[in-house]
Amino acid sequence: MTRSIPTAALCATLCFLPACGNQSAGTGQHAAHADGHHHDHAEGIQGVTHAICVLSATEGNAVAGWIRFEQTDAGVRVTAEVDGLTPGKHGFHVHMFGDLSAADGTATGGHFDPHGVDHGLPGMHDDHAHVGGHAGDLGNLDADDTGHASYDVTYADLHLNGPESIVGRSIIVHRDEDLGADHQPTGNAGPRIAQGVIGIDAAPE
Ligand code: CU
Ligand code: ZN
Repeated sequence: MTRSIPTAALCATLCFLPACGNQSAGTGQHAAHADGHHHDHAEGIQGVTHAICVLSATEGNAVAGWIRFEQTDAGVRVTAEVDGLTPGKHGFHVHMFGDLSAADGTATGGHFDPHGVDHGLPGMHDDHAHVGGHAGDLGNLDADDTGHASYDVTYADLHLNGPESIVGRSIIVHRDEDLGADHQPTGNAGPRIAQGVIGIDAAPE
């Protein structure tokens, strides 16, 4: 005989359930679950291994490209291929909101910053130290003479799942170089020249 749940304890648990149900009825909590799905708000998004952001130029600009996100053992690998840039460096970041309704990109809000730290460049925050540098600070795209930039950096403190997931947020590419922590709060990267929402992507076959 291996079952060891004390009968008295089980009975006590069951006997309290009706009381609990009566207390919370009508509070609105159960109404939110009326669709029959279970919602655990503490866990956030789960099961995402790949995400993608397709960039659209903001008004007056001609930038195009994509940023891909892949979950690896070392963190989230961020790769990008972007065209239509002026040669040189252009700051780009994960911004808070996936709202692309403003022609100048400003509806996406500020840099994604789940730990309440100052702005910085990638070397400051990608090891989970949280000493500075927003989780969304991806540094700079560095465009060649043709206006093309490639990017490939892995971040231990970026997440596709859970309460700090970047899925549903956005990427902004800026006109100017992100100058980092000496230029609070955003690195002085200038106007927003491209924007896109980070969405769930299919895993490659
Ligand atoms: Cu930005
Ligand atoms: Zn920042």
